[in-house]
Amino acid sequence: MIERTLAIIKPDAIAARRAGAILSMIEQAGFRILAMRLLRLTRAQAEGFYAVHREKPFFDSLCRFMTEGPVIVMALEADGAIQKWRDLMGPTDPAQAPEGTIRRLFGSNIERNAVHGSDGPETARFELGYFFPGVELLG
Ligand code: CMP
Repeated sequence: MIERTLAIIKPDAIAARRAGAILSMIEQAGFRILAMRLLRLTRAQAEGFYAVHREKPFFDSLCRFMTEGPVIVMALEADGAIQKWRDLMGPTDPAQAPEGTIRRLFGSNIERNAVHGSDGPETARFELGYFFPGVELLG
């Protein structure tokens, strides 16, 4: 089933000049990039995006990290895009990530893990709308 998911290249990966390598992996894996923005999140934007984690002990640190520099947000499309992107990223903790995954290659620790992806269809709808509200994504 053709799906869409929201991907973010996080501030650590942009600062380390890995954005190009990550975009290349996205293209090589067969995703279509339907929309893309580079922006520096405000604190309010980061808190709103990660609202489900508001009660977690790492919430404040996560929001500080996500606002420390620019991010690239993308709408990706592929057959089974949500799981496909999660497979390419690897698990949240880079130390647990299989060889060849983005987080294994470019992540530093469980917080500074290079990329984000939606974890399910509901989340994907919310997250795509969060960064591309009212945007007619390329068909
Ligand atoms: P992400 O997939 O963007 O979803 C939530 C983010 O919170 C996660 O990637 C990490 O950047 C961060 N995160 C998740 N778990 C932890 C943790 N135990 N400690 C610190 N940061 C975490």
